[in-house]
Amino acid sequence: MLQRIIESVEYLQSKLTGEYHVGIILGSGLGGLVKAMNIEQTIPYSEIPNFPVSTVKGHSGNLLAGWFGGKRVLVMQGRFHYYEGYSMQQVTFPIRVLSKLGVKVLLVSNAAGGVNQEFLVGDMMVITDHINLFPEHPLHGKNLEEFGERFPTMVDAYSPRIRAIAFEQAKELGLELVSGVYAGLQGPSYETPAEYHWLRVIGADAVGMSTVPEIIVARHSGIECFGMSVITNSTASPEKIKTNHCEVQDIGNSVQPKMTALFSAIVSNIQINE
Ligand code: HPA
Repeated sequence: MLQRIIESVEYLQSKLTGEYHVGIILGSGLGGLVKAMNIEQTIPYSEIPNFPVSTVKGHSGNLLAGWFGGKRVLVMQGRFHYYEGYSMQQVTFPIRVLSKLGVKVLLVSNAAGGVNQEFLVGDMMVITDHINLFPEHPLHGKNLEEFGERFPTMVDAYSPRIRAIAFEQAKELGLELVSGVYAGLQGPSYETPAEYHWLRVIGADAVGMSTVPEIIVARHSGIECFGMSVITNSTASPEKIKTNHCEVQDIGNSVQPKMTALFSAIVSNIQINE
């Protein structure tokens, strides 16, 4: 595993110039960020040794290097989902690579079902914490000591400091945010009403099929994390509970300008702790 990570890192180091401390994973709601970015390099995942290749419609697979919010950023345009058939090691492989490239802060977005009955479709939720419901753990197996310890803490997995910046900047921009707990499960089927109810009972506010593995691996490496969910369906109303991939993408697209503006303001205002 370590050898494979090093091969990818060495390949990328031969392509990249400059230092990158901020990584961004473009999930739902953030696809438009690329238009606001000054892209210096587009590296298809297929060219990076050992990188998995994205299979989902609407998710392109490139690593973008450039400037956003006044900082150099490495952007994953397309992520790997467990439901696509990848192992947890593959899903989180790019995070290991970002870590070795010097990334200290990781920002991610995703689409999620609104489990909290007060949430409306189109709401933007700052993730305060997660519940890991995936059937396999991304740190299962031999610990990679060069990245982090065997039993990493997951307290404050979602940086309180960056969350505070997000709320300050949202206020400046006149954007309303909600906050809550993201439950990550494997999919690919959406949940039954009974499962949405169960998620509410165990303390989730939103549910989706990504993010949790990436955050766990990023935290293992000591990367500071921030995540936002775009609420694409509400489990509170019988008409809004049922969803499909198109609808999820449409809602994601509709909030792109707001999400991009917010992420840009967050990146501008983050001090990188080295
Ligand atoms: N469940 C799981 N993943 C999702 C949902 C949902 O309701 N909506 C968007 N992604």
